[in-house]
Amino acid sequence: MDTPADYPCAISPFEDGGQRQYLTRLAQTDAVRRYKRTATSELDVHPGHVVVDLGCGAGLDLHRYAGLTGPTGAVIGIDYDPQMAALATQATKHLPTVNVEVADIHCLPLNAESADRVHIDRVLQHVTSPSGAIAEAARILRPTGKLVCTEPDWATLAIDHPDADLSVTYTNMMLKHVIPQPTVGRSIPRLIQQAGLTVTRIEPVTALWTDVVAADGVLGLHVVTERALSAGHLTAAQARSWIDHLMTAPFLATMTLLMVSAQYENIDLAIG
Ligand SMILES: C[S@@+](CC[C@H](N)C(=O)[O-])C[C@H]1O[C@@H](n2cnc3c(N)ncnc32)[C@H](O)[C@@H]1O
Repeated sequence: MDTPADYPCAISPFEDGGQRQYLTRLAQTDAVRRYKRTATSELDVHPGHVVVDLGCGAGLDLHRYAGLTGPTGAVIGIDYDPQMAALATQATKHLPTVNVEVADIHCLPLNAESADRVHIDRVLQHVTSPSGAIAEAARILRPTGKLVCTEPDWATLAIDHPDADLSVTYTNMMLKHVIPQPTVGRSIPRLIQQAGLTVTRIEPVTALWTDVVAADGVLGLHVVTERALSAGHLTAAQARSWIDHLMTAPFLATMTLLMVSAQYENIDLAIG
């Protein structure tokens, strides 16, 4: 399996900087807003809970958990990128119950059974071992805990173009050369069950883009096309035809993400 080191950028392969703006812009899209609302409701966070957000990025979800856990709860954001952790710390510095730590989610600095809720959103696509990361999430979860995980399946990326072969080439480029774990979304229910948890809900979420500029920021239309060209996956004529059409014709792209909720099966016994 490829390691993230083979992939130059862990956040977005498409932007060299401005990660917070990138994540914020993404979080404001309808599909992301919708599934984040569902994920929060599935987590069923209560006052006093300890909520851990693995791969918290710029910390966009932390304030919501802080509001739900209240003054007696705790929210822990984990990110291995010190720059992202600094952004998350800065964004939550007015929230006394929020702590952000720099750590790798494959090896968490947290005790077993110390979290009531664990949230993972678009992180496993970047990690070396999704099964190892999910096993860590299962380890820190209390027997009464809940896990909600949302990841894309990049194989479902479909971009409209008169030459459908070019669209397939582009999707294959994402699968083979851009995203470390491109199809992890579909594997999450299996990985979660292998970690000893029971899956309680699987929700496919379809992202839809009709604005080419917004899509370019997330899907990296220009950057990935340039990479495909320099790697010889597209000829110069194909690359030109692909980009010219996308930038001038009515645009449409879709991709499916999988949102999966889980908990330990013996939850009633654990409560009793
Ligand atoms: C696409 S961002 C998602 C951020 C956040 N979950 C959100 O919904 O806005 C992925 C984040 O995962 C982090 N990440 C990737 N691999 C990681 C690892 N092994 N350990 C900790 N964080 C990781 C990246 O640094 C990045 O901040």
